[in-house]
Amino acid sequence: MATILRGKDILRADHLTLDEIETIMVTAVRFENAMRAGDRLSNMAGKILATLFYEPSTRTRLSFESAMLRLGGQVISVADAKGASSAAKGETLYDTGKMIEGYADVAVVRHPIAGSAAELAEGAAIPVINGGDGAGQHPTQALLDLYTIRKEKGRAEDLTVALVGDLKNGRTVHSLSMLLANFGTHFYFVAPTALAMPPEITADLRRRGIEIVETADLREAAARSDVLYMTRIQKERFTDPAEYERLRGSYVLDKALLSLAKPGITAMHPLPRVDEIAREVDSVEGAAYFRQANNGVVVRMALLTLVTE
Ligand code: CP
Repeated sequence: MATILRGKDILRADHLTLDEIETIMVTAVRFENAMRAGDRLSNMAGKILATLFYEPSTRTRLSFESAMLRLGGQVISVADAKGASSAAKGETLYDTGKMIEGYADVAVVRHPIAGSAAELAEGAAIPVINGGDGAGQHPTQALLDLYTIRKEKGRAEDLTVALVGDLKNGRTVHSLSMLLANFGTHFYFVAPTALAMPPEITADLRRRGIEIVETADLREAAARSDVLYMTRIQKERFTDPAEYERLRGSYVLDKALLSLAKPGITAMHPLPRVDEIAREVDSVEGAAYFRQANNGVVVRMALLTLVTE
């Protein structure tokens, strides 16, 4: 195994070099092949993963825990970190990091405030992985998204990808756009004006020479894209419920819309979905979102191994 990522905190997609990204992808493929062959894996035997989730999660938490167990390691966690950890007594994330380093070899944290994973990492000497920090970043989701795009399309280079929905608050699209920029992706950013991609991200991508079309027209984007990446309107980030009601359901992918899309288009979604993709799409060949969620296990097996080896 390569040692390029040893000891590294995984906090933001734009902190990963191309070499590091390739190492994670290659290692994930190796784990996928090993699992398919029924090999017994023990890369993490004797090691402990701590999961601290201050916000709800199904996929990120379970796939990290599954990854650790499949690698022969063990998991400790706080069932509801917000209510049941000492955060409820006022403990800082920095201090929590100081504690965790004595209990585990690697930690995954999810938190409602952007920058919180970095605060925990500052206190902890062990590698800390950001499992989603508010409307900030979700780098491991972006890595499994990249892995999925490579599997579904056979390549990452020279693709047109439409990111659709709540681009303002959606941490998955923040991280994914930064990661795909390494591969020269052409983007459609499809969102209502109120939920547009943060201008600092768009400006940074353009500075790197990335071609971006910002539009509210999903049909145009679907007709020209190789990948349609739908996202949920992030209800929990709205301070005004009426504004959420106005914007929910802005974009729905159904079979009628798919009939107008570029032939062979791949539909992705980080999940959970609310009403952004009709169930009738699930049986379509290009509907990759459940395969995408499953890919999270091997990508997270790769990450846990690489940062702790
Ligand atoms: N995609 C994702 O982060 O899902 P969870 O919120 O269920 O972890």
